[in-house]
Amino acid sequence: MNVLVTGGAGYIGSIVVEELLKNSHRVAVLDNLSTGHRDSVDNLARLIEGDIKDQQLVEQTLTENNIEAVIHMAGSSQVAESVLFPEKYYDNNVVAGKVLLDAMRATKVQKIVFSSTAAVYGEAERQPIVETDKLEPTNPYGETKLQFENELRRNHEEHGLGYVSLRYFNAAGASKNCGERHDPETHLIPMVLQAALGRLPHINIFGDDYPTRDGTCVRDYIHVIDLAHAHVLALNSLDGVAAAYNLGCGGRGYTVREVIDAAREVTGRSIPEAITGRRQGDPAVLIASSERISRELGWKPEFQDLGVIISSAWEWLRQNGFE
Ligand code: UFG
Repeated sequence: MNVLVTGGAGYIGSIVVEELLKNSHRVAVLDNLSTGHRDSVDNLARLIEGDIKDQQLVEQTLTENNIEAVIHMAGSSQVAESVLFPEKYYDNNVVAGKVLLDAMRATKVQKIVFSSTAAVYGEAERQPIVETDKLEPTNPYGETKLQFENELRRNHEEHGLGYVSLRYFNAAGASKNCGERHDPETHLIPMVLQAALGRLPHINIFGDDYPTRDGTCVRDYIHVIDLAHAHVLALNSLDGVAAAYNLGCGGRGYTVREVIDAAREVTGRSIPEAITGRRQGDPAVLIASSERISRELGWKPEFQDLGVIISSAWEWLRQNGFE
């Protein structure tokens, strides 16, 4: 298939591009490089530097590359930032997304896979979370992702758009060539590894008074390659479909302390820690049921072990001059 990946120069996007190429798809990437990196995009993909808010550019990109489906990953994705700058999130995640949908309609591209998030659930009433649980985001990031999911449903009902929303839990790890390098970095695993490298004096633990097995938050970490693989499966299911799937590994999840301990084991380094207060907006536990995507699309995670996930991130950091 000829596929356009918006945001394909980002952390998850670049690994989705690799997976698509491995599966013989032809890939164009549209990315404004505001947070992505030119050198993360595989040479076999065509990178177009530009914004999805530019409808003319999007239409031209769709037409020139004979695009049959879009994987829409461009957007803003930091919970804390979204609380400070909600308009930015509305603009990048909703308004820009609508421009993309208009361009798709104008050029008769009828298939889209969307990067959504566990943040659409807010404070879940039960774990593991299933897709039919209530959607009550507690921050503008989750709210804007949900608004775009609703926009997709409207386009499905009114124009027959085929779409799949993939609700990511905690993506982590790296492929051989691409890893996580946000600026500033906020995610737990890369922060812990920065502390292992001595680039941070210690890792801050945001709260140890949660009602969990060791007082720290539990999250469902999913290897970014398994996550990317789900996009390839979703692509093949898009004909006239309207679906949302959770993507996590399920099980018991891991606490912040368990992540730090696993990183000590993987790296063989001492990783100093400091307990600080809770981070605003952090739910105590977030665990996915990914049963629906397993049943309907045959998705199966290959790298569930936390040590394997952390090792891949560690290898990538060391091979890319972070030590
Ligand atoms: N944490 C720390 N110290 C740090 C960084 C994180 O203790 O330096 C803790 C957080 O408080 C949280 C856990 O580690 O309990 C994981 O935090 P991340 O920032 O790595 O990830 P989040 O769970 O906050 O965010 C993820 C996705 C978001 C999504 C959100 C849903 O990255 O896109 O889950 O709540 F919106």
